[in-house]
Amino acid sequence: MEHLAIIMDGNGRWAKARGLPRSEGHRAGGETVRRVLGFCRDAGIRYLTLYAFSVENWKRPKEEVDALMGLLVSYLAGEESMLHRHQVRLRIMGQRDDLPAEVQAALNHVESVTAHYERQLILCLSYGGRREIVSAAKKLAQAAAEGKLDPDSIDEDVFATQLYLPDVPDPDLIVRTSGEMRLSNFLLWQASYAELYVTPVLWPDFDKADFDAALASFGKRERRYGGV
Ligand code: IPE
Ligand code: IPE
Ligand code: MG
Repeated sequence: MEHLAIIMDGNGRWAKARGLPRSEGHRAGGETVRRVLGFCRDAGIRYLTLYAFSVENWKRPKEEVDALMGLLVSYLAGEESMLHRHQVRLRIMGQRDDLPAEVQAALNHVESVTAHYERQLILCLSYGGRREIVSAAKKLAQAAAEGKLDPDSIDEDVFATQLYLPDVPDPDLIVRTSGEMRLSNFLLWQASYAELYVTPVLWPDFDKADFDAALASFGKRERRYGGV
């Protein structure tokens, strides 16, 4: 498998079950990210995309949003050396401008110091699949209005060049933790032929056995892409 994408869900329920604030669930979820990076390296997975914050997540109480943004900054500061050790390039996918200035600064820094590595960790932040598709359409419409693009030349390949990270291959497998059977606006374009795997395990509890189970399930799938 070349590209694994994960909808990291269930942090809040994990915390609630322990009588802890939701932010503790997010902190525990950060530990899982660290573990999963190691599993992916050992499994030879080149791209790992993590859904960390959706455009819809801005609707959450300010206290929770602030806690998440704060965790992100401290996570980035703490994990820079780990990214170097694993030789992983950090990339961001989403509406970067929506993020607080200190988060953007931390992201820019880690992205630039890891830009030369081949393996990629892609963090989806303030990400929405529909938003991404609309922004691609807007860029094409702009180019057409300026006479730089013939609308008749737009096909799937041309359209895909205007997505956030056009050089990244589509995900092979999308995993969602915590049992919800929905995409929640994740990678709508790229998911067209991804295999899906949902586990009831909450993200902070997701361990090596759960990771192996997801990969084993993927290994048994027959990918037909509409053929026979
Ligand atoms: C996923 O956990 C992390 C984010 C969406 C930021 P949740 O916070 O959605 O946890 P639940 O779904 O409430 O348990
Ligand atoms: C999806 O989880 C977004 C992330 C994991 C970042 P949510 O918890 O926000 O999704 P819904 O609200 O259950 O669909
Ligand atoms: Mg959730």
